[in-house]
Amino acid sequence: MVDTPDSRASQSLGLEEAYSVKTPDDNRRLYAKWAATYESVFVATQKYRYPQAISEVFHNVITSADISSIVDIGTGTGLTGMYLSSLRPNLVIDGIDISPEMLTKAQDKKRQNGSSVYQLLLEQDMSKRASTPNSPYDALICSGTFTHGHLGPEAIDNLIALVRPNGWCVIGVNNEHFEAREFDKKLNQLIETNKIADLQILKIQVYEPESTHYGDQARVLVFRIESDF
Ligand SMILES: C[S@@+](CC[C@H](N)C(=O)[O-])C[C@H]1O[C@@H](n2cnc3c(N)ncnc32)[C@H](O)[C@@H]1O
Repeated sequence: MVDTPDSRASQSLGLEEAYSVKTPDDNRRLYAKWAATYESVFVATQKYRYPQAISEVFHNVITSADISSIVDIGTGTGLTGMYLSSLRPNLVIDGIDISPEMLTKAQDKKRQNGSSVYQLLLEQDMSKRASTPNSPYDALICSGTFTHGHLGPEAIDNLIALVRPNGWCVIGVNNEHFEAREFDKKLNQLIETNKIADLQILKIQVYEPESTHYGDQARVLVFRIESDF
């Protein structure tokens, strides 16, 4: 890469900038700049394993035979779909993200058989209700998008609206964000109002042991959409 002031700025983008955003427009601006180097610099040097870890949780925990379609929320450059499709080659995967620049990267991701990872990629702000021609899905997955300044607990309503009754959600939430924004209250409310059931909260390491961020964990919320929701 030619070392211009712009390329130096994008190379240095990382967690500090990601955690300092506040609004959907801040996210659009951040990821427009970050898309070019997100994988080559951030994922590679920080040894970010969240997409792989959350795909493994999905694969190991969701064993129902009737899951054939899934939507990946906060698709980013498509790493979650890539890992998930290697574990579940027959899954039809759509993606939703607020950043067209990140989605352009996801469009290039290929399955092991050479076909595209994603069937459909949509630019939508998930802090609002979203619509896709293929919903309701059998399942939903989300990594790295419930974190500081990105999506908060209230956005879970917008995600679960995309999943069919008895479908499954696997949603990663940054640990500190979970505590600070009281995700437990939102989850209890969804259980009490019979919207979700069978909640498990697991933990994953977000970075590989060699990373300077090793030890940062995410909660992974796994739950089923209630049958009469
Ligand atoms: C840290 S990246 C994670 C990308 C990918 N899932 C991964 O783990 O590599 C967060 C993603 O969330 C997206 N995002 C942020 N706010 C959003 C919103 N309100 N609606 C939809 N996507 C959003 C960003 O554009 C970005 O692609």
